[in-house]
Amino acid sequence: MKIAVVGLGYIGLPTAVMFASHGHEVIGVDVLPEVVETLARGDIHIEEPGVAPVLKSVVESGSFRPQLLPEKADVFILSVPTPSNDDHSPNLGFVTKAAESIVPYLEPGNLVILESTSPPGTTIGLIPTLERSGLKVGVDIYLAHSPERVLPGRILIELVENDRVIGGYTLESAQKAADLYRSFVQGGILQTDATTAEMAKLMENTFRDVNIALANEFSRIAERVGIDVNEAIRLANHHPRVNILNPGPGVGGHCIAVDPWFIVDSAPEESTLIRTARVVNDAQPGYVADLVTRIVSGIENPTVAVLGLAYKPDVDDIRESPSVEVVKHLSRLGYRLRLHDSHTRSEVAGMPVYGELSEAVSGADAMIILTDHREYHRLEPDDENLSGIVHRILIDTRNCVNPNLWRDAGYAVHRLGVGAPFMVTEGPDFD
Ligand SMILES: NC(=O)c1ccc[n+]([C@@H]2O[C@H](COP(=O)([O-])OP(=O)(O)OC[C@H]3O[C@@H](n4cnc5c(N)ncnc54)[C@H](O)[C@@H]3O)[C@@H](O)[C@H]2O)c1
Repeated sequence: MKIAVVGLGYIGLPTAVMFASHGHEVIGVDVLPEVVETLARGDIHIEEPGVAPVLKSVVESGSFRPQLLPEKADVFILSVPTPSNDDHSPNLGFVTKAAESIVPYLEPGNLVILESTSPPGTTIGLIPTLERSGLKVGVDIYLAHSPERVLPGRILIELVENDRVIGGYTLESAQKAADLYRSFVQGGILQTDATTAEMAKLMENTFRDVNIALANEFSRIAERVGIDVNEAIRLANHHPRVNILNPGPGVGGHCIAVDPWFIVDSAPEESTLIRTARVVNDAQPGYVADLVTRIVSGIENPTVAVLGLAYKPDVDDIRESPSVEVVKHLSRLGYRLRLHDSHTRSEVAGMPVYGELSEAVSGADAMIILTDHREYHRLEPDDENLSGIVHRILIDTRNCVNPNLWRDAGYAVHRLGVGAPFMVTEGPDFD
């Protein structure tokens, strides 16, 4: 098959190279010249384990060709962003533009697949645009939605192993898309209609968002009633039918913090719980900033070292990251901040991000762990990178360190969701 993948980001690029390394001829299309140029050299512009060598080999073999414009193909896969607007309404501008861009190249027998996470009705809403080609969807060309459910950091593994939902505009559309993905998918292929597939994806992320909101609320309650929420969750999860998620500084990324709003937008009156969960999780970075304020209030002009900016562990993606929101709150509160993340070098809120922990911690009065990168789990209090810290204060919002180890080393350890009787107030004298 000749496949055009439109949108070469975190989802489109791994998908494109996966098809290209499984016997297909793939055209990769992106509107950003720098992305196309980088990929055409065989270099990669995102961080995702395992993709770089496959990319190099499919560029060298000629089975993957990045370019700025689409061309005729058998299959068109749209994997462009679907963000929400400031008022939380869905921004489908990228999807519309991507669909418009393929219209001049459509031919009878083509299959169009929307992979972008989309509000219910988006796929069938593309029909008028696609029919500008003069072809009838469901008769001359096939249309399907196949939402992507991979976990960044494990995309190449999960593309193969995960079950894949495929929603067809017609039964034949679903079957054609299913046959295509069978080129590399070893998980189950679950066929349904396009709108149900859209909702299934949104419901997955909404399930997680609502349950994280519940964990965050438990965490605040734990602080109020004086218990350790992590201990209570551990015990509750011994119940055979309970699985409480972990609290943290908020919910981020391109998906979980965005997708529930698509449901709210489609059915506002029926989605009060979903909306409330979003509000709870969006308030969490401000809650964490208030926690920091309480902890460092005794220090004059405190400098806070922020550990971890990505929205999840061991990735470089800082989009919609709650860590970045915490940074913005702390910055507004007037704290001097020194930021560390060895995965991303992007500037955040006008501040440099240090790749070396020693640089970020140098002269800091407190450290706060916001993203639980593996390196922070492994961090030990006597690590020489920490020698420049002024006051030994550690705030852990991810239940990531062993508090006793750090306390034994003279640190005041504060953990999100751990109430007063558990809070260690002794520690260095700040005066
Ligand atoms: N990143 C994830 O973990 C993840 C997981 C599951 C689903 N999704 C969904 O997949 C979709 C894509 O997300 P992503 O993370 O890959 O986005 P991304 O921002 O990493 O990549 C999108 C790419 O599309 C390009 N683009 C935008 N408009 C275009 C157009 N008209 N023609 C050609 N290229 C265009 C952009 O330049 C960019 O390179 C979204 O709907 C997202 O919600 C993402």
